[in-house]
Amino acid sequence: MIKKLFLLPGDGIGTEVMTEVELLIQWFNDRGIASFETESGLVGGSAYDAHGEAISDSDMALAMAADAVIFGAVGGPKWDSVPYDQRPEAGLLRLRKDMELFANLRPAICYPALAGASSLKKELVDGLDILIVRELTGGVYFGEPKTITDLGNGQKRAIDTQIYDTYEIDRVSRVAFEMARTRSNLVHSAEKRNVMKSGVLWNEVVTQVHKESYSDVKLEHILADNCGMQLVRAPKQFDVIVTDNLFGDILSDVAAMLTGSLGMLPSASLGAEDEKTGTRKALYEPVHGSAPDIAGKDYANPIATIGSFGMALRYSFGMGDWATKLDDAIAAVLDKGLRTRDLAQEGDKVISTAEMGKAIIAELDAIAG
Ligand code: IPM
Ligand code: MG
Repeated sequence: MIKKLFLLPGDGIGTEVMTEVELLIQWFNDRGIASFETESGLVGGSAYDAHGEAISDSDMALAMAADAVIFGAVGGPKWDSVPYDQRPEAGLLRLRKDMELFANLRPAICYPALAGASSLKKELVDGLDILIVRELTGGVYFGEPKTITDLGNGQKRAIDTQIYDTYEIDRVSRVAFEMARTRSNLVHSAEKRNVMKSGVLWNEVVTQVHKESYSDVKLEHILADNCGMQLVRAPKQFDVIVTDNLFGDILSDVAAMLTGSLGMLPSASLGAEDEKTGTRKALYEPVHGSAPDIAGKDYANPIATIGSFGMALRYSFGMGDWATKLDDAIAAVLDKGLRTRDLAQEGDKVISTAEMGKAIIAELDAIAG
């Protein structure tokens, strides 16, 4: 069966890391393991330059029709002064919202070879394997009103609105509990119930869902600020962390650094399962941004985007065995001491984006036999 992939490389290093994913897709096709059909579109600043908006309606339609979307990164100083509604990030936010990708899975795994590359002590991160489940279509990212008003007295007032309805908390917490059952069976739910009404409701709904359907899973409630602190104090105490859109954004950047580099973290943004087909809308994206400072230099680490494609194999295409092989290939390359700049320490061999992509495919080739 042909699987339709829609590629949105975006801006900055997005295009460089996507090239490596395209070679990987080609490898799967050439080997006859899968039949991927790819189409590419524009998102972010590159889409603004072409059509005056951060994603066009026709690219949006292609994203909706694809079996999976693979996303690179958006943004850069070039677009600092474009209208707010058309800023590069707006393209990504529209994709998340219109495709209803409410569950964002952000696994933070510390490959053994990289334990020394983390800013934390090796023993704190060695063997780390946590999963952040971030709510992705609600909260302060999308709540209205969202305005800046001139108060007329030399002052302005900015308003962002944090909104959560029961069903939004319910469905994302179910994803977290389901994931925990396939892992170490522990969920931490992070909110700020001591300050925010949305935190009070979050806590209440997660507690209820747990009681009703997942009492076999261990649930801990944790204040989001304490969660940030615990992530850098003793990260291995966590298995799955479920949290809202904004806290998830922040906590996943923290978790990323535990693994050695922001260039390591993949993510999957998933919609609800279609009851008839069993399929779900999905977009796969690295957690890192467009890194304009290193764009175009062949320095970027493609592992987060390659890992995101691996998540597509697992969650969209029932190819979990190949996702595991791809992870093994990444681990093998790192074991050989091959590093992009972001990961390099003394004595490592520093390689380019393209060399890293090729090294991973060569290992996969060897593993596949
Ligand atoms: C992320 C990014 C995005 C976010 C930006 C690019 C809008 O930081 O995916 O974590 O804030 O969600
Ligand atoms: Mg972020």
